[in-house]
Amino acid sequence: EEANLAMIFDRYKDKFTTLPKEKGWMTQDLYKYQGFWNQSRNVVSVETVMATQDTFQARPTDIYLATLPKSGTTWLKALVFATVNRNMYKNKPLSTHPLQTSNPHNCLPFVECEVLRTSPTYVEAHSPRLFATHIPYTSLPQSILDSGCRIVYMSRNPKDVLVSLFHFANKLRGKFSDLLTLEEAFDMFTRGVIPNGPYWDHVKGYYKAGLEQPTRIMFLTYEDMKMDTAKCLSRLAKFLGCPFTKEEEAKGMVEEIVNLCGFENLSEVNKHGTLSIGIPNQAFFREGKVGDWQNHLTTEMGRTLDRITKQKFHGLDLIQ
Ligand code: A3P
Repeated sequence: EEANLAMIFDRYKDKFTTLPKEKGWMTQDLYKYQGFWNQSRNVVSVETVMATQDTFQARPTDIYLATLPKSGTTWLKALVFATVNRNMYKNKPLSTHPLQTSNPHNCLPFVECEVLRTSPTYVEAHSPRLFATHIPYTSLPQSILDSGCRIVYMSRNPKDVLVSLFHFANKLRGKFSDLLTLEEAFDMFTRGVIPNGPYWDHVKGYYKAGLEQPTRIMFLTYEDMKMDTAKCLSRLAKFLGCPFTKEEEAKGMVEEIVNLCGFENLSEVNKHGTLSIGIPNQAFFREGKVGDWQNHLTTEMGRTLDRITKQKFHGLDLIQ
């Protein structure tokens, strides 16, 4: 995979050096490609997005989970993985379920990383294939748009995304570089400079596409999911073509999956270890709450973000 990555960096280096650049959240700079900011020289980067656009072949049965980083990607991956594959694990002890031993990011891959594989993640017969992505709607590979496959988008309120990203970035910066101040983070966020941002454009792209194609694109929010996970999960299962049966509901299958994927359980399972890309498993689990921004942002910062959101989402039923 490293050799593939080096080849991809090399293939796109001319295209990439012309892109606008900004100081990033982690240690790397961000580059603006097709209106959105991306890291570079990384497994999920502007180069792998370009390669995905050029070569990835979607299938009509595929399912894509689209998010901005820090919007609940890890949680959504766990919920969808556990729901779609539930028959595979139903007669086995819960302790042997992949989510009890492995990070959700190891169970459900990013489509942006598929171009790096020496052999594809899914064997020919595997259906549906499950992929996550941070790619904005307008930059999705044409084959995903043309295939008619289903897409689930999860958004989260911008103030909690900012606070979550701020803590995540500083955890990764660690002792190797200065920590970001909250003021710096706030300034970058409001200017739209976040990985895969601007925040508002990313959310709006999928939201509008979902309005036009409701049977193909499902729009969820982190907040709704937190408020009534079982209800949202049932809707999600139905959308994905694997609704919970009456019998499954009576047996408590929905609650079982909700608990398996709940913050308490997953943060415990992921206390130790690191992903192959070097990020500690526990970095994806911090508070897992709605409204934690109130403990970090000033009232003025909150008001400014609300004002920008109101203006950017004007005319759309998207404000919480
Ligand atoms: P906080 O930093 O606000 O706690 P992503 O998975 O997109 O990187 O998002 C990470 C955010 O989702 C973090 O938010 C993390 O705590 C939260 N999260 C992770 N697993 C969760 C779960 N099972 N339930 C609810 N929130 C979860």
